[in-house]
Amino acid sequence: MASFFSPALNEKIKGFLGRYETRRSSILPILHAIQDENDWISKEAVQALEAEHGLSVVDVNEVLSFYTMYRKTPPKAYRLEVCGSISCWLNGADKTISTAKDYIAAAEKSGKPVPFECHKVECLGVCGYAPVALVNKDRYLNVTPDAAVKLIEDYSNKDLPAAAKKCAADLAAAAQKP
Ligand code: FES
Repeated sequence: MASFFSPALNEKIKGFLGRYETRRSSILPILHAIQDENDWISKEAVQALEAEHGLSVVDVNEVLSFYTMYRKTPPKAYRLEVCGSISCWLNGADKTISTAKDYIAAAEKSGKPVPFECHKVECLGVCGYAPVALVNKDRYLNVTPDAAVKLIEDYSNKDLPAAAKKCAADLAAAAQKP
C-alpha cells in the first residue's frame, strides 16, 4: 500500500521515532516535518501517523491542539504578517492589523473571500519604518491601515503562485468534506 507521506518525509519520521526515549517525544519534530512539507497538518496525516508509524491519533491530536504554531487548516495563499513589537505598536500596528482582519472578514461574509490571512508577529528588524509588514516573503514599510488594505487588494488581483494554488485547492477540498 502506498504511503500517505513522501519517501523523504517517511525517512525523517522514522529517524525521529528512533531518536528519543519514548515515541511520544518524537511527535513535535514529526509534526514540524509534516508541516514543512505540506504547509499544514491534515486529519488524514494524523491518521496515517497511526496507521503507518504506530503513533496514537489521541496523542498526536493532544500535541496539535496545544500548540498554535501548527496549522490545522490549509493556509491561505497570502499571509500578511504585521509587526506588533514596540516601535510598530507605537506607530499604529494594532489599527493596521484590525483593519486588515476586518477587511478579510467582510470579504468572506460578502461571499467574495480574499486569499489572505493576517497575523501579528514579533519585530521584523526595521523598526525605523514602523509599522512593518510582510506579505509572504515581501517586506513593506510604513504600513498604515489604508496601505494594508491596498496590499490585500493588489495581491488578491494577482495570479496566484503555484504553491498558493495548491493551498487553495487543499482548502476547497477540505471545505467539501463533511
Ligand atoms: S518593532 Fe516593528 S520592525 Fe521592529
